[in-house]
Amino acid sequence: MKRIGILTGGGDAPGLNAVIRAAVKTAIYEYGCEVIGIRDGYDGFIDDQGVIPLGIEDVRGLLPRGGTILGAASRGNPYARKVIRDGKEITIDVSEEIITGIKRLELDALLVLGGDGTLHSAHELYLKGAPIIGVPKTIDNDIGGTEATFGFDTAVTTATEAIDKLHTTAEAHHRVMALELMGRDAGFIALHAGVAGGADVILIPEIPFRFEAIVAKVRQRVERGYLFSIIAVSEGAKAVGENQVFSRPGDEIYVPRLGGIGQVIGKYIEGQGFETRVTVLGHLQRGGTPTPFDRWLATRYGAAAVRLAAQGKFDRMVALHMGKIVDVSLEEAISIPKRVSLNDDAVITARGMSISFGDE
Ligand code: F6P
Repeated sequence: MKRIGILTGGGDAPGLNAVIRAAVKTAIYEYGCEVIGIRDGYDGFIDDQGVIPLGIEDVRGLLPRGGTILGAASRGNPYARKVIRDGKEITIDVSEEIITGIKRLELDALLVLGGDGTLHSAHELYLKGAPIIGVPKTIDNDIGGTEATFGFDTAVTTATEAIDKLHTTAEAHHRVMALELMGRDAGFIALHAGVAGGADVILIPEIPFRFEAIVAKVRQRVERGYLFSIIAVSEGAKAVGENQVFSRPGDEIYVPRLGGIGQVIGKYIEGQGFETRVTVLGHLQRGGTPTPFDRWLATRYGAAAVRLAAQGKFDRMVALHMGKIVDVSLEEAISIPKRVSLNDDAVITARGMSISFGDE
């Protein structure tokens, strides 16, 4: 193994830089191998200035830094890239250019740090001959084949701190406070932060809710003498028989953008006579310094990905299984996305403690 490439695709997540740092250090110190950074997801293979050498000096001080020094590209699907040709905007497949780029750079392996979309593309590029190794990244924690993705713990920490802060105003003003959290079609952030922050209602995509049940919980709390309520609502949560709420439709490049369910719920509750405020935590969940757990996981993933590269184990993804770093096939990782199980002990625990999921 003489030279490996690294790219970060999809949205950013805390811990990307920690993976890059670990991979560069392991590649250089352990294997005497050169490392090339590919900028802005797969785009770096196409742009003139798209690649940079990564040495030990380049990764100094990266461990606590959020974002990614390589840049990310959330519309970086190599099979549908928007370009202007003859003055017209068209969508083209640039996967062959990426394969050519990998060959031109003489990469023995390409580490792809990404979520479901990026890892899907990575698997397809492997089928075209690219020496791919995946590293699971996303604050949503929704990738199959692994117990954890880096970025999730940091997002949950930020969301829990937000719930703690909302609690004081909720209590002081006798209000209902709803906090809309990210997670796309998986409710892990809302569930974990909701339990850790002591929310009274947790709404997640996996458990469709009824508006009446949410209000019943708020009313029950008032009857019990608690004049405020905290609602942690996942952006992908939906009412029984209704669709998710989007702030922007999707197209060939962009997936539809979720957002707005918090306001819908807030309006309903206020209409039932309970003063309500809604906060959307948004991209604060993706920013900032990674937690120690995310740095620990990201570092282990980065190093393990390089070890896989040295063994020539391509089309695999590093994963966490019962506390140990293992590898799984990319196909397994992308075929069944991870979701909150209704039998999850956290769901059972929450229900047993009178936290409502808005379904009963
Ligand atoms: O997948 C990560 C995520 O942060 C989701 O939780 C959220 O729905 C989405 O990305 C937001 O994407 P963007 O940064 O494109 O708005």
